[in-house]
Amino acid sequence: MALETLFSPKNIRNVQIKNRIVRSATFTNTAEKYGYIGDRFIELYETLAEGGTGLIITEATAVDPSGTGGPYQACLYDNSHNPGHKKLVNKVHEYSDTKIAIQLVHTGRLGYHPKYPTVAPSPIHSESTGITPRELSTEEIYEFIQIFVASGIRAYECGYDMVQLHAAHGYFLCNFISPFTNKRNDEFGGSIKNRTKILIDIYNGLRDEIGKNFPILIKLQVVDAIPNGLIEEEGIKLAKNLAEMGFDAIEPSGGGRESQMFEKNTFPSKVVKKPKDENYFLPIAKKIKHNLKNCALILVGGIRNPISAEKILQDNEVDFISLSRPLIYEPELPNRWQMGDNSPAKCISCNSCYTIMEKGVPVYCVTKKNLEKK
Ligand SMILES: Cc1cc2nc3c(=O)[nH]c(=O)nc-3n(C[C@H](O)[C@H](O)[C@H](O)COP(=O)(O)O)c2cc1C
Repeated sequence: MALETLFSPKNIRNVQIKNRIVRSATFTNTAEKYGYIGDRFIELYETLAEGGTGLIITEATAVDPSGTGGPYQACLYDNSHNPGHKKLVNKVHEYSDTKIAIQLVHTGRLGYHPKYPTVAPSPIHSESTGITPRELSTEEIYEFIQIFVASGIRAYECGYDMVQLHAAHGYFLCNFISPFTNKRNDEFGGSIKNRTKILIDIYNGLRDEIGKNFPILIKLQVVDAIPNGLIEEEGIKLAKNLAEMGFDAIEPSGGGRESQMFEKNTFPSKVVKKPKDENYFLPIAKKIKHNLKNCALILVGGIRNPISAEKILQDNEVDFISLSRPLIYEPELPNRWQMGDNSPAKCISCNSCYTIMEKGVPVYCVTKKNLEKK
């Protein structure tokens, strides 16, 4: 089967992506100390660009020192970070029209920084970290909106093609969306509208500063998979609201560290053993798609087979497909598929990459390394 749609171009706002393959944001622990971008980080992204991915989304990049997830996480909270990011963007742009977005994050209730207290919309104890975060005041939330906007402006100035807000997996922005972690009584809590206010305010703040052409994307929690958490019906409404407010692309996701306390094989990085386990966010993506109009839909989660990806795209169920673990094993996967080898990704979803990430060392695929040793 020819993978015609998979390798056809499509726009996000006015930026053309050369094919429908996105690298989903993937933490790699390869920045230098204090979050500076150095050679090993750039080399990793160069490998992805060389491998044929149309749109590369960087790993979660911290907007504030209080919201970092480890010493080797990329940061963009200070102008001194800019030169490394500019170098990265220029390198990726050397590869036949590859586009690069930056993912912006604050760890929120999942943070455990030695110097900064853990903060969140509400002081709800986390079984996962053992920490009860400090509740932010309304004024502090407005300050955080400015912090996200400032990082987005830096990303624009560094030449990134777009930004993606990380509002999934239990981190800061996700904490506002979820009724389990947001019990506020002010304008940032309560109704869905209030719980998404922070996202809209960041969107509007950025849009005002960078004009109408720069795409603003969001990785969006659409289901928490925890008791009393965000449920699918609300997630679908959220996506609709954000598309109407102007977001240019939505990558629906769910779960996170806290959902893993309730079920081992859960979102966002589920184990995929059989074809029926693949494309696990497709059922919810289908319910979101018809509400989106000009906003692109990016499907992530267990996409392993190019033929089923082609069919999903041909049927217009989503606009792009997004890969994380498969590109750790095979950064050259898009080129392999484009050259006619239609066999599925070699990734066996063992999540060994995840275990390596948790150790705080540069991420790699253990399965691949073991096979290479034989
Ligand atoms: C090692 C590792 C690091 C990840 N880091 C991020 C991240 O920085 N930001 C994010 O939004 N998702 C992150 N994810 C989740 C992935 O982007 C993706 O949503 C999930 O793994 C499902 O896609 P896949 O089946 O293609 O791996 C990470 C996943 C893994 C395995």
